[in-house]
Amino acid sequence: MRIYLTEDYDAMSRRAANLISAEVIRKPDCVLGLATGSTPVGTYKQLATWNQRGDFSFKEVRSVNLDEYKGLAPTHDQSYRYFMQDNFFDHIDIDVKNTNVPDGLAADPAAECARYDELVRSLGYADLQLLGLGRNGHIGFNEPCDHFVKETHVVDLTQSTIDANARFFASADDVPRQALTMGIGCIMAARRVLLIASGADKADAVYNAFCGPITPYCPASILQLHDDVVLVGDKAALSKLIAAGVPVCE
Ligand code: GLP
Repeated sequence: MRIYLTEDYDAMSRRAANLISAEVIRKPDCVLGLATGSTPVGTYKQLATWNQRGDFSFKEVRSVNLDEYKGLAPTHDQSYRYFMQDNFFDHIDIDVKNTNVPDGLAADPAAECARYDELVRSLGYADLQLLGLGRNGHIGFNEPCDHFVKETHVVDLTQSTIDANARFFASADDVPRQALTMGIGCIMAARRVLLIASGADKADAVYNAFCGPITPYCPASILQLHDDVVLVGDKAALSKLIAAGVPVCE
């Protein structure tokens, strides 16, 4: 595992964008696993700037997103499909037909989960999977529980996630209680995982994920078993790792 320490959120975003653009330049038809949340917004903005400048193209890139709220239409401004269009896809030259987000409105959510697993498998899994990190250690919407769930599945969101994501909705009552999420199997099948973290409120989760025991109670801790993980975090998010003497590069 390689850990990059950056000064702040903007520097974290640029470093992550550099790593993603390197992958797209190396393999123009790569499969990118993409994430939502506030953390990747700066990364997407930086990538869009370089793409618009003509530095590289997303025309042949395929993408698979991690998750979607159950019950939200793609046109709902808090759906993850809307987020991806608004923060990334509408600003780059990717072919929207090559982008994939689970369908939050599927009449048969279990069938949609099975379809999504098969889709990711048929694409050969992600060449690079971008991940944010929940304050409770979740990745995608794989919430802490007593076992790792391998397949794409419908998950009950924990109160901590509902509270954390309430800031995007009118009130906590409006946050959907369930989501469809890629499971740990597809995430671990990615050839490289890039996890980004910013801010002091992620310091415990980062520490538990990379220094704590490997346990489904901290889903991100499974990444300790992946042989190509890059963590890019700012000083605040990495503070506990650094205090524990974990070596980092700048
Ligand atoms: C959501 C998403 C995750 C994301 C997490 C952290 O719950 N499902 O993929 O990593 O929130 O979000 P943020 O980056 O806003 O802290």
